[in-house]
Amino acid sequence: MSRLYTKNINIGYDEKVIVKNLNIKIPDGKITAIIGPNGCGKSTLLKAITRIISPKSGTVILDGKDILKENTKKLARKMAILPQTPEGATGLTVGELVSYGRFPYQKGFGRLTKKDYEVIDWALEVTGTKDYKFRSIDALSGGQRQRVWIAMALAQETEIIFLDEPTTYLDIAHQLEVLELLQKLNLEQERTIVMVLHDLNQAARFADYIIALKDGQVVKAGSCEEVINQEVLKEVFNIDAKISRDPRTNKPICVTYNLLKGVSNNEKNNNFSSNSICVNY
Ligand SMILES: Nc1ncnc2c1ncn2[C@@H]1O[C@H](COP(=O)(O)OP(=O)(O)OP(=O)(O)O)[C@@H](O)[C@H]1O
Ligand SMILES: [Mg+2]
Repeated sequence: MSRLYTKNINIGYDEKVIVKNLNIKIPDGKITAIIGPNGCGKSTLLKAITRIISPKSGTVILDGKDILKENTKKLARKMAILPQTPEGATGLTVGELVSYGRFPYQKGFGRLTKKDYEVIDWALEVTGTKDYKFRSIDALSGGQRQRVWIAMALAQETEIIFLDEPTTYLDIAHQLEVLELLQKLNLEQERTIVMVLHDLNQAARFADYIIALKDGQVVKAGSCEEVINQEVLKEVFNIDAKISRDPRTNKPICVTYNLLKGVSNNEKNNNFSSNSICVNY
């Protein structure tokens, strides 16, 4: 039984339901990637699981308890989230922002302890942001700022970490660094990592478990072989993907893909229809 799962969860905004009757389990101590088209509900799902928004119905269970009934600081010691577009840091220094990650551990007047300072320095160090510690967050590049937000989430020292597109703004080397750091935290400290990724090859390479969403529902959840394959990618993204094996990791990789156009929903379950138009990428 997973520590964290959703039970018939419906999530939306105003009258509109985005995530529909969803049941997912987050495997403990593993890396889970959530993939799916823009607007399919990935961020909405992450927000509900981390209690940023409340579901319309259904529940999110963590350690046998509905998260809506959990104490805020206690929940924040169990789960951290890096949102897709973090906000509210204007005017802060990098060190100040990362120190906010220690909020769940503060008592009384909220003074930072020696342990807090150690964790903050560790988070700055592993994300390669310690040189900016005293700089204003507003004076950083997009990629530098993204790594500072990751540092803040890490400073929260939670067993479960959610990251919504953590590689946004990062160059390819920094993308790999961040993903390898998360992998290290997972392998060495058994942290449970859940991240939204658009890069399918990174999802296949780093995740133990992949959840493919479309229109607020799960198309397929399973190992990278079960999800990163021609059939599932066609269903989820409407692409014809050629899948091979990464010679270094032996994980599935999408080497090339065509966009399938002119395929109606009824035809999607068949192979190519004769009137399909293929756009090469
Ligand atoms: N605050 C909001 N109010 C109203 N509708 C919203 C709000 N946030 C998101 N939506 C809508 O909900 C749907 C799902 O959005 P969501 O952000 O979950 O998508 P996503 O899968 O994360 O997409 P992306 O890959 O672009 O980040 C979209 O149609 C979006 O326009
Ligand atoms: Mg999103």
